[in-house]
Amino acid sequence: MTTTPKILAFAGSGRTNSYNKMLVKIAAQGAQESGVEVSFFDFKDHPMAIYDGDFADQHYFDQNARLFKTALQEHQGLLIASPEFNNSLSGILKNALDWATIPEGDERPYDVFRGKVAGLLSTSPGSMGGIRGLEHLRSILANIQVMVMPEQFVVPFSSKAFNEEGILVNEQQLTRAKMIGKRLAEIILKLHS
Ligand SMILES: Cc1cc2nc3c(=O)[nH]c(=O)nc-3n(C[C@H](O)[C@H](O)[C@H](O)COP(=O)(O)O)c2cc1C
Repeated sequence: MTTTPKILAFAGSGRTNSYNKMLVKIAAQGAQESGVEVSFFDFKDHPMAIYDGDFADQHYFDQNARLFKTALQEHQGLLIASPEFNNSLSGILKNALDWATIPEGDERPYDVFRGKVAGLLSTSPGSMGGIRGLEHLRSILANIQVMVMPEQFVVPFSSKAFNEEGILVNEQQLTRAKMIGKRLAEIILKLHS
């Protein structure tokens, strides 16, 4: 690859004041400080239909799902902050990942994911910070051929962890969140230079 690799950052939440959106932006800053360009994808701006097998018969592909798929194709790294819903990932994130695995034309199912590297984060109002949901997300991503960084970072008690500007109040947490972005940037720079 001759051009600089890029990272696509997104949260598994559509919520306007999502703590996971705040968290992924902090991690993205770590990547940007390491010289990698980051784009953001917000599921609030691009709501997708819940995938239903009938769509395949109708040759229908959700336009926002296609936008997401195209964004995935154009980036080499993924930064994902995933809220925990009932000990797992959110429906919004699972649905988006499902759409993106659906091939069109000559594509194979995992073409947009194969060879990508992902860094994972989570924040939730509970004491576990969403770590149980990350286990499921990690497993799904590995199955669709994404290389998931072993390091991850979770922030418990989300409602108290961020200030009004969406920044983590605790300096150590701030550094660790940025570190996920930095590590991801270092890996994709090594892989693609
Ligand atoms: C249906 C549902 C299930 C949830 N399950 C969990 C859970 O298992 N563990 C947890 O820590 N929080 C759980 N929560 C709380 C979410 O983590 C919380 O709403 C979180 O702030 C959402 O992320 P966001 O701030 O990025 O939108 C749940 C919320 C909903 C609506």
